[in-house]
Amino acid sequence: MNQTELYVSLDIGSSSIKVLIGEMTNGSLNVIGVGNVKSNGIRKGAIVDIDATVQSIKKAIDQAERMIGMSINEVVLGIPANQAMLHHVKGVVAVNSENREITDDDLDRVIDSAQVMSIPPERELVNLVPKQFVVDHLDEIKDPRGMIGIRLEMDGTMMTTSKTILHNVLRCVERAGLQIREIYLQPLASGYFALSEDEKNHGTAFIDIGGGSTTIAVFQDGHLTHTSVLPVGGDHLTKDLSIVLKTPTEQAEKIKHQYGHAFYDDASDDELFEVPVIGAEMKEQYSQRYISEIIGVRLEELFELVLEEFYRMGLQDLPGGVVITGGVAKLEGLSQLARHILQTRVRLYTPEYIGVREPGYATAVGLIRYAHMEDQFFNRFGGNSALGQSKKPEQQSPAPKKQKQQMQTKEEDKESVMGKARKFLDKFFE
Ligand SMILES: Nc1ncnc2c1ncn2[C@@H]1O[C@H](COP(=O)(O)OP(=O)(O)OP(=O)(O)O)[C@@H](O)[C@H]1O
Ligand SMILES: [Mg+2]
Repeated sequence: MNQTELYVSLDIGSSSIKVLIGEMTNGSLNVIGVGNVKSNGIRKGAIVDIDATVQSIKKAIDQAERMIGMSINEVVLGIPANQAMLHHVKGVVAVNSENREITDDDLDRVIDSAQVMSIPPERELVNLVPKQFVVDHLDEIKDPRGMIGIRLEMDGTMMTTSKTILHNVLRCVERAGLQIREIYLQPLASGYFALSEDEKNHGTAFIDIGGGSTTIAVFQDGHLTHTSVLPVGGDHLTKDLSIVLKTPTEQAEKIKHQYGHAFYDDASDDELFEVPVIGAEMKEQYSQRYISEIIGVRLEELFELVLEEFYRMGLQDLPGGVVITGGVAKLEGLSQLARHILQTRVRLYTPEYIGVREPGYATAVGLIRYAHMEDQFFNRFGGNSALGQSKKPEQQSPAPKKQKQQMQTKEEDKESVMGKARKFLDKFFE
């Protein structure tokens, strides 16, 4: 049966807010709407101005809505990993049913029981990800439902973040008039799909270089094990160019996109381009190699900081190497420089979906796919509440018929294990 589920993801980044509307059919994603607007009010991945952020979110949502001619109700929200902490948790329950068959209810209860670990008052739960289930000492079970047993255990990772960070993000989304379907730690959702199974199992660092921050996420034995955020990103490159070339920020950003190169040895020295100088009539001429030195210095410093983080995380080795994404991954020569400094294999990740073939969309795409994966695991299907009423469509893109039908089906309230976050959100919005 071809069942299509609709999802809307929201990635509140320091450079831009991204909104994706995606249809998931038989496990494959089809992006049908995109909103991408410059963000205001976010620095280094954290919200510093609520009103400005709300306005930016509204604009991005509006852009995506216009593409499909429907209003957006509910989003899958990414939470930045600033101040995130991962804790190992365990849960144990006795199997309930008389015939000892493990059911959805047992699964719910064992995940619940793993949540009893007390969370300090200044922190809040974001996600609880099962690593393995154990049925009567038989371990490494991915899904225990349908198995026969007496005792069900679960090993998992609890991801928490600072209450302040989370509540400010939630406040902005709420003020933008949106409901939240699920929340996920950004690198959990994006890394999970950017890395291959082998990479996740062998030990790989997933690095998202955004505008104001760089997020490092390490996956080992198939799971996210470490996260860390450095307050450095592409905006620093723009600022450096603007200062050294004495050119306005907007020009510096353009030059970075058009001529930017991260690796001095490979940058071209032949072609010169003109750069306007602040407060002067004349223009200066520079080569790509010249600006690659400015960009390279900052990025070298960034990768040195990444190495320090690896050391701090106690990583001995990364057999799967490094995978880089985020807007800055588009910069020419970036992988060469990363290889040179990190001394390991480096590949770049770009999501391969029509309309979002940009590394900057890695998080927004990951959020949709992660939500869909969990919905499948927990059988949370049966309707779509992501979209609401019809809006006046853009001239060239009338609302697809299918969504009109779906919009009328109201999602039943499906209490789920991983809906714990949602429960908490309800509490928050009361
Ligand atoms: N072609 C390009 N060349 C160089 N840099 C680029 C290019 N395209 C985008 N960038 C840079 O990527 C950065 C934005 O990346 P991204 O959209 O991933 O950030 P963000 O998610 O908004 O920010 P963050 O994750 O830090 O909160 C900006 O600094 C932008 O200048
Ligand atoms: Mg980002």
